[in-house]
Parts: sequence; structure tokens; C-alpha cells
Amino acid sequence: MQQNFAAMAYHKITEADLNFFKSIEGIAGVFTDEEVLQNSASDQTEDLHYLPEVVIQPQTVSAVSSIMKYCNEHHVPVTPRGAGTGLSGGALAVHGGVVLDMKRFDKILHIDKRNLQVMTEPGVITQVLQEAVKAEGLFYPPDPASKGSCFIGGNVSENSGGPRAVKYGVVKDYVLNLEVVLPNGEVIWTGANVLKNATGYNLTQLIVGSEGTLGIITKIVLKLVPAVQHDLLMLVPFRSAIQACEAVNAIFMAGYTPSALEFMERDALEWSMRYTKAEGIALPDAIQAHLLIEVDGNNIEELYKDMEAISGIVQRFDTDDILFADTHEQKQMLWALRRKVGEAVKSNSIYKEEDTVVPRAELPELLSIIKKIGKEYGFQSVCYGHAGDGNLHVNIVKADMSDDDWNHKLPQGIRELFKEVVRLGGTISGEHGIGLVQKSYMDIAFGKVQLQLMKDIKNIFDPNHILNPGKIFAD
Ligand code: LAC
Ligand code: ZN
Repeated sequence: MQQNFAAMAYHKITEADLNFFKSIEGIAGVFTDEEVLQNSASDQTEDLHYLPEVVIQPQTVSAVSSIMKYCNEHHVPVTPRGAGTGLSGGALAVHGGVVLDMKRFDKILHIDKRNLQVMTEPGVITQVLQEAVKAEGLFYPPDPASKGSCFIGGNVSENSGGPRAVKYGVVKDYVLNLEVVLPNGEVIWTGANVLKNATGYNLTQLIVGSEGTLGIITKIVLKLVPAVQHDLLMLVPFRSAIQACEAVNAIFMAGYTPSALEFMERDALEWSMRYTKAEGIALPDAIQAHLLIEVDGNNIEELYKDMEAISGIVQRFDTDDILFADTHEQKQMLWALRRKVGEAVKSNSIYKEEDTVVPRAELPELLSIIKKIGKEYGFQSVCYGHAGDGNLHVNIVKADMSDDDWNHKLPQGIRELFKEVVRLGGTISGEHGIGLVQKSYMDIAFGKVQLQLMKDIKNIFDPNHILNPGKIFAD
């Protein structure tokens, strides 16, 4: 049977439903008070706001299973929620119903030092997980900008990346196995806790990045690597933003793989400096962009040599004085500046954030296309992101655009931009996901056949469309 992906008629929550939820063992709370509902009504995506009817905090797998089984039978929409740091609206209950708040799943279950693995619950803050494995001499590299507040479960659901992805890969490269509660309440493990697995279809990777639309993740087994001893960081100012993008590829072409290679347009750095009240960074008028470049490893002498070689490469372009971070504090300050760009832009203006990604060598062309389309459609953009991955976050700020242009003309400009991204061999989200805000552009990234395959997969997992409805697929 073919389900319609437009809004279905869902059952509104009644007193009887609430009583059932309250009767389930292993539930920390069933909340209908305004304050809790409001706190779950938004995430970090623009200024979107969707009020759920109830927020439920399960704390056991069997409670999640009971909730799902009941909601499936009664056609109640369920939207899983981690820390609410998402940037595509994935955690928003667009059809009301239940928000399944996973914050009670906050235990790291087992750090397996013999096998370099960790088994964790999804509601653990990513940085907490990183620090726990670091204390055992191990390293979990993926580090989204929100690592101090986001949950590992959200990272798996969105297949997050972050600055270190350029050397170490994204979340999917670390997920070995998942425990998942299906929409009908069945509980499965998707694979095995092994580094190689050629056994049947890869259900693990199907769940990774599925944005909470196929199942509820309740346990995660991650691969770890040995801790790395040293890192060096430099900030390189460029007089031309296009040249900064060209320098990115020159570094890789010369055989170097930095552990981070981040791009910030002038406005991105300037707004973040203002937002974080950072001091001690000169920003002469002629500077258009910066690259933040990190190398890491265990041999400090080698790292100094790499840094010297990389600075030689970038200085073939039109650069100003390079800032080498000497102290831990200086490194922290530079990383804070980079991580806070998104927040800084948000505090400055109404904005939309696009998450374009192209093959790395096409980055200079992508940047010039963004600016060209911006001129045509009358929008201002602040670009920054993971240049080493060809992943550019394009923050479009409303500034003095009229509401009418913002609502009607801008989507056409974004559509044009995404078409160009695909023409360059790229796609429309590198790490933020499609969720709610990009779903109407999916036809640019995929043809009818691929979209139908994805919808068929959704229908197999969730034939009643109760799990995170209204996401990924256009209405
Ligand atoms: C960053 C987030 C927005 O890179 O992905 O800052
Ligand atoms: Zn990012």
C-alpha cells in the first residue's frame, strides 16, 4: 500500500492516552505543562516553533517500546528529541503528538579498552563521551560545533561531522552497531560490534543519518582510535576569499591532510569576535577570509615541519601575517571563535542556514556562485565551514530584505544555488540533514526513482508514518 507523504490525519492526544503513558514502567515523566512543551517546541533551526501535545521522558528500552507500540496502534505522531541543537528542524513535532525526550538515556555503558570501542546511550553529551574515552587513552574524533551540548544520539541520527571530519571522517565512520526500537515497538540490534561486516544489508548505516524517521536509537556502539598527543593550530588571513578556497586544495594536492581546515569569511569571524568579545586578533580592512588550519599527531617535530610546509603553501596566495597559536588558551580562543560563528550570525539577524557540499576542488567556484546568486536575488550571505571537506555553510541573513522577498524570492534563489551545487557534483546537505527545512529541495538532489526507493524504505519501517512525520520528503 502506498502512503501519502502529505499530512495524514493523526489522533489527538486524550486523557486516556496520557493515563496509559503514565502507567508505563520506566518513564521519568509525562509532561503537558506549558513550560515543558515550549522548551521542546524549537531547536536551533532558524526561529521555527511547533508545540507538541505531550513530552514523554522514557528511561528504559522497554518503556520506549511500549510507547511506540501504543502510538503506532493509535496513530499518534512521535518525534524523538535529543539536545535540540539540530539545524534542520529534525526534532520539531510538526504534527503535534508526542515528543520523545531521550535525555534520561545518559549513561556511557561500557568503554571496551581491549577492542577500542564504547557502548553508550544516546542522551550522552558528545563532549562528555569524548572526555570519558580520553581518560582511558582513547579518542572519539567527530566534534560538531555544538559538542558541549549536543547528544551523541542526535549526532548519529543526523550523521554529523564537524572540523575533524577532514582527517578522521564523520559519525557514520565510527558507528559499528545500534540498538533500535522500531515504530511497531520491536527492539533490534542492527549489526555486530565488529570492524568489518559483510553480512546482509547494512541496517546500521541505514539508521545513521535517517533523522529519527525509521526507529528510536537506544544504544550505540562506536569505534574509537588511540588518543593523539599533539596538535598545532594557525589562523591564516587572505585578501581574497576565493584564493583562500584555492589554497585549501593546494594543501591536499601537496600531500598534507590537516586534522582541521576551516574557512571563515570576514563577516563570520568579525561577527563571532564581537559575539564572543574576543581580543587580540587583528582584522585589517583588506582581509576577506581566513583559514583555520590544525595538524595533529604524536611526533611534535614532524608536526612543526608539516605546519611550516603548509604555511609555505598558503603564502603562495595573497595572505597577511599568519597567527600561530602558542598556548592552549590561544587555541581554545580560536576554536571558540570558529565554533560560535553560527550563534553569532543567529544573534545578528533572522537567517537561513544552508549546508552545501561539493567535491573539494570545486570550492572556489561554489563560493563565487553563491555570491553571484546572492546579487541576482538580493540576499547577503555569510559563508564558513569545513573547507577541507568541501562543506560550506551558507548563512543567508535577512538584513533589509522585505518579508515578501524573504518568503517568495529567496526560496527560488536557494533552489538555483542547490542546482548549481549538484551541477558541481555536490549535494544539498553535508552534515545538518534535510529535516523540515530542506525537504522541498530533495528533488534537486535525487530523481523520482531514488526518492521512491527512500519512501518505500520509510513505509517498510513505519507504514503508519507515526515516527517523525513531515521530515525529509516533500509534502
Ligand atoms: C558549524 C555548524 C553550524 O560548523 O555545523 O559551526
Ligand atoms: Zn559545520
